[in-house]
Amino acid sequence: MTIVIDGKSYDTIRGKTILDVCLENNLKLAHECEGKCTCGTCIVDILKGHENLSMTTSCEKMHLVALDANCRLACQTRIRGEVEVRLR
Ligand code: FES
Repeated sequence: MTIVIDGKSYDTIRGKTILDVCLENNLKLAHECEGKCTCGTCIVDILKGHENLSMTTSCEKMHLVALDANCRLACQTRIRGEVEVRLR
């Protein structure tokens, strides 16, 4: 399975989070709470493949309320298929 981040493709496996892929590939993405869904710093934009991501959690929704529908928290969002992401 492949995920595209900032225009570059990375191999990954189903079920990993977007943050997992970023950390494994040394991509710079803020994640102050280390994935505990408390800081809201790991926001990314989903360009394609919303249908291939895990459902938005209630915790995640609290951080995304003032943002547009294409935003997700990288630490909470699991990959289930092809997706294209832009880091902030
Ligand atoms: S790393 Fe803190 S909310 Fe994602």
